[in-house]
Amino acid sequence: SYEQKVFSFPDTDGVSEATCLYIEKLSQEYIAETGRFTIAFSGGSLPKTVSKYLVNSKKVDFTKWLVFFADERCVPLDDAESNYLLVKNEFFDKLPKDNCVPPQNIFPINASLVSSSEEAANDYEDSLLKAFVGKETLRYPQFDLLLLGMGPDGHTCSLFPGFPQIQETGVWVTSIDNSPKPPPSRITLTLPVLNDAHNVAFVNCGDQKAQVVKEILQENSTKYPAGMVKPRRGNLYWFMDDKSSSLLDRA
Ligand code: 6PG
Repeated sequence: SYEQKVFSFPDTDGVSEATCLYIEKLSQEYIAETGRFTIAFSGGSLPKTVSKYLVNSKKVDFTKWLVFFADERCVPLDDAESNYLLVKNEFFDKLPKDNCVPPQNIFPINASLVSSSEEAANDYEDSLLKAFVGKETLRYPQFDLLLLGMGPDGHTCSLFPGFPQIQETGVWVTSIDNSPKPPPSRITLTLPVLNDAHNVAFVNCGDQKAQVVKEILQENSTKYPAGMVKPRRGNLYWFMDDKSSSLLDRA
C-alpha cells in the first residue's frame, strides 16, 4: 500500500515552487542513501512547470542525477515535438555549468535511430536494464521519482484509455502507433514500471483536467490510465493548480 497526498495551489507558479521543494527533498534523501537519484520526466507542460525554480536550486546535486523519460514521441530528438528537446530547453540547458546533469547520465528515448517504434521501445528497455540492474534485482526498475502528466482523457505517459498498452506487464517499455494525441507513434513506460517506482508525482494544471481529477481522486475511478497508477510500495503525490482540483470536495 502507498501513501497518497494531494496538494493544490492558486496558480502554476505555486505548483512550480512546491514541486521544487519536493524534488529537492527526495534528491537529497536518495543521493545520501544510494549516491544517485533516478528521475523520469514526461512531456507536455510538465518540464516547464517543474523546472522553473528547480534549475536554481542550491540543494540539489544534479551531477548525481540519472534522467530518464517516461514517454517520448517518435520524432528526431531535435524535433519541436520531442520530449527530450523540451526537457533540454527547459531544464538541462538552464542548469548552472558547475552543477549540471552529466551527458552520460541523460537517457533519451531515440526512436529516430531505428526503423520501428517497437525497436525503439526494446532499445530503451536495454538502456534501463544497464542503468538499474546490478543496483537492483527486481522484476521492474524502481525509479526514485517519476514525474507524470495527465491528459483531459485520463492518459498518462503514452498510455491511453482503452488502448492495449495498458494491459502490458511483460515489458518495461512499449510502443503505440495510433496515439489519439499526436504524433501517432510513441514510446512509453508500462504500468507495472510506474507502479514499482519509489515515488510518483502527477503535475496537473488547468481546468480541462478537473473532471478526470475528480473521478480519480474522489470516486477512485480506475477506468483511466492515470487512475491505474497505484505504486505498490511507493508514494503517490498530486500537485495541481486550483483549476485542476476545482471539482474536488474541500476538506
Ligand atoms: C506527452 C506527454 C503526455 C503529457 C500529458 C499531459 O508526450 O504528450 O508525456 O503524457 O504528460 O498529455 O500534457 P499537458 O501537461 O501538456 O497537459
